[in-house]
Amino acid sequence: SLQSLRFWSPSRLVEAALKAAVEHRAQGVLVAGGLDDELDALVSLDRAVGLLGCSPREFKRARSLRAVMEAAARSGVATPKAALCRTPGEAAEAARRIGLPAVLKPDRTSGGYGIRVARSLEDIIREFKVVASHSRSHVVLQEYIEGADASVSLIATGQDAVAVSLNQQILGLRELGQLEPLGYSGNITPLRLGRAESEIREACEELCRRLGLRGSIGVDFVVRDGEAYLMEVNPRFQATLECVEEAYGVNLVELHLSALEGKLPEPVKASRYAARLIVYAKQPCRVGYLHDISGVRDVPPPGTTIEKRAPVCSVLSTAQTPEQALRSCLEKAREVYEKTVYSIRSHETGISLRRKALEGAQCL
Ligand SMILES: Nc1ncnc2c1ncn2[C@@H]1O[C@H](COP(=O)(O)OP(=O)(O)O)[C@@H](O)[C@H]1O
Ligand SMILES: [Mg+2]
Repeated sequence: SLQSLRFWSPSRLVEAALKAAVEHRAQGVLVAGGLDDELDALVSLDRAVGLLGCSPREFKRARSLRAVMEAAARSGVATPKAALCRTPGEAAEAARRIGLPAVLKPDRTSGGYGIRVARSLEDIIREFKVVASHSRSHVVLQEYIEGADASVSLIATGQDAVAVSLNQQILGLRELGQLEPLGYSGNITPLRLGRAESEIREACEELCRRLGLRGSIGVDFVVRDGEAYLMEVNPRFQATLECVEEAYGVNLVELHLSALEGKLPEPVKASRYAARLIVYAKQPCRVGYLHDISGVRDVPPPGTTIEKRAPVCSVLSTAQTPEQALRSCLEKAREVYEKTVYSIRSHETGISLRRKALEGAQCL
């Protein structure tokens, strides 16, 4: 039933998840992305089925800018200077204090949607409205940290935490249809950072302890001159899940469930690199048969129509170098586009589309 969610919204997702939970007699819910700042949705899932991981209250703390900045300061993690703004004028004033370029962010973020980098006061005035349209009550203006986009995946028990991996984040890959400048496009795991690595791991572990988080936790950050600046805490499974599992040979769901019983994993070394990219529709399209592309994930049934900018599927590759893993993902993405038919409005294409969808269905 989750696959039939064409137009995503937190309430529709919860409705579909509750329906699936009843149908399959679920014993609990594992939360992934999209609901971080949707407290009502988390509370209804928790009441109806039970969250296996952080409670709604723990989510709230991990998503509170103030609580996180305080915990970060105590854990030795740098944070970008930030201000909460309600009007373009307030944002321009904050930018004069904090400096330019600056980042304008909605007060609830997901997948990088609605985040803008402003290089001038004119940019701030122009972009404010876009960012505010993604916000609930205010816009966050942050110092822009120019550096490497990264994340840490941790396992935490509430009292203690272990950083399992560092990951490179790939953002705004226009060639795969991600048009948001800082929109999520994928990951490469592990990310090697040399000497800075152990310090970043330890600081993130301390941050999880201070916030009392449990289960699989993600911390996003940007590394500038060897120093990690905290972006946000994701107190749930991350989009890096498959890359971490493939590179480290671990089962993150098992580690998550053990951590809820108070057990932390031993540190493991990565045996290879794993990359994952999200393939977004560049035009409204209908998908063909994608299952025979190796490493393709989250595959819609043949014939499914996808709106422009919505995800078609994801592709996953492993290799001995990060470059090879990424190149292989890009090749797979090209195959996906080849099997995806655009211009679904034209009569002519409509016929070939039906034929393609039928061919796909026969392969099933
Ligand atoms: N102030 C900033 N400076 C530099 N890059 C940023 C800043 N804020 C966000 N980003 C980049 O955009 C990504 C997405 O922002 P984030 O705060 O993690 O929101 P989301 O919940 O949408 O993932 C970050 O991981 C980071 O790479
Ligand atoms: Mg993020």
